[in-house]
Amino acid sequence: MKTGARIAVIGGGSSYTPELVDGLLNHYEEMPVEQITLVDISDGAEKMRIVSELSRRMIEKRGRKITLDTTLDRRAALKDRDFVCNQFRVGGLKARARDESIPMRYGAIGQETVGAGGFAKALRTIPVALEIARDMEELGSSAWLLNFTNPASMVTQALLNHSTVRAIGLCNVPITMQMGIAEAFGVEPDDVGMDFFGLNHLSFARRIFIKGRDVTQQVLHIASDDNQTMANIPAQEWGDDLLEAINMLPNSYLRYYWFGDEMYRQQTADLDAGKGTRAIRVMAIEAELFKTYQNPELKEKPPELQKRGGAYYSEVAVSVMSSIYANRPREMVVNIRNGHALPELPENASVEVSALIDGRGARPLYSGLMPASVRGLIQQVKAYEDLTVEAAVSGDRSVALAALVNNPLVPSVDVAEKILLDILRENSGYLPQFEVEA
Ligand code: G6P
Repeated sequence: MKTGARIAVIGGGSSYTPELVDGLLNHYEEMPVEQITLVDISDGAEKMRIVSELSRRMIEKRGRKITLDTTLDRRAALKDRDFVCNQFRVGGLKARARDESIPMRYGAIGQETVGAGGFAKALRTIPVALEIARDMEELGSSAWLLNFTNPASMVTQALLNHSTVRAIGLCNVPITMQMGIAEAFGVEPDDVGMDFFGLNHLSFARRIFIKGRDVTQQVLHIASDDNQTMANIPAQEWGDDLLEAINMLPNSYLRYYWFGDEMYRQQTADLDAGKGTRAIRVMAIEAELFKTYQNPELKEKPPELQKRGGAYYSEVAVSVMSSIYANRPREMVVNIRNGHALPELPENASVEVSALIDGRGARPLYSGLMPASVRGLIQQVKAYEDLTVEAAVSGDRSVALAALVNNPLVPSVDVAEKILLDILRENSGYLPQFEVEA
């Protein structure tokens, strides 16, 4: 007899896994867990062994009867699941380092999810996400697929439009904004409400409430000279003028669109100083983390994990899972099919909006026209995303070029062509859908 949720984690060898296990343990009363199966490819087997041993120590310390097992057989792990969590990275951090450095050769922002770096990652990742979905379809799986794998907007859109699995895209930025507001006002995170809309890594809290009272203007006042951001994004103040002009709280990733010159300057300064791109720094953080994880005395999530950009990701994952599992309604910001929420975007687009989560899944709570101050940017990026998903599925090179030309962080057609050539050549082992000349 089933005694709790059965979860498969694809990319189980990730250094983030202890974060997820910690979240599942913290919310065990809301959602008992019977089995967690970590899945990885053979290159990730050693990391998966290390995180599984730490995870088992964490489970034992908390006195829970959860079976945690590991496998390289993904299809077997997808059987009889309530939830499948995608947190894999095709090509690992080495591929990420290439994604970040190729655009910089041509004077463009080098970032893992926005700009041409996110495009390269989408081409590699979407076919694998769809293979997982295909396996789930063939197994007749009714599991919810919770996707954290970046670029989350495009991966989720591909799953929603090219498979029949029940997919929800998740991100830690909205909850990080909520946590930051709660801390600034000295209230609990659940006291903070946000009317939230946009695309993943291009989203806005349009109105913000504390216990139902509209505090948007106070939040904007606090946020204007606050250069706090996610651990992975360079510090940069928004400034009063900008926040007054748009009158909304932006996702930290908007810094790449609105302060592109300064972000690029900081990225090149890091390269010049020999620090490498973010992927290179994450490799060093990961090496330390995996050393720490191997300490047999360690029985909890170590504080060093906060150096990664994914803080609170388990809060999001576990909150969504437990609301679905127990049919307990909760408002959260997730990535789902647009439908009629943002009428100026295609109905089949993935959008990041406030949503009601319960046993039926996620339904948008937000709906409305977008303010003119951000509408153009969101529509342009969605057009880029639509084309990128199409290129990733079809392997059509001219669609890929059209996608890059539409990305606001790619400065010209000439640069788009050069970046595309480098991406296709340097990822050839991961892009079987494209015919690549050597
Ligand atoms: C943020 C983003 C995630 C991303 C992470 C990267 O949290 O929302 O989508 O994966 O940063 O952090 P890292 O430590 O890998 O640079």
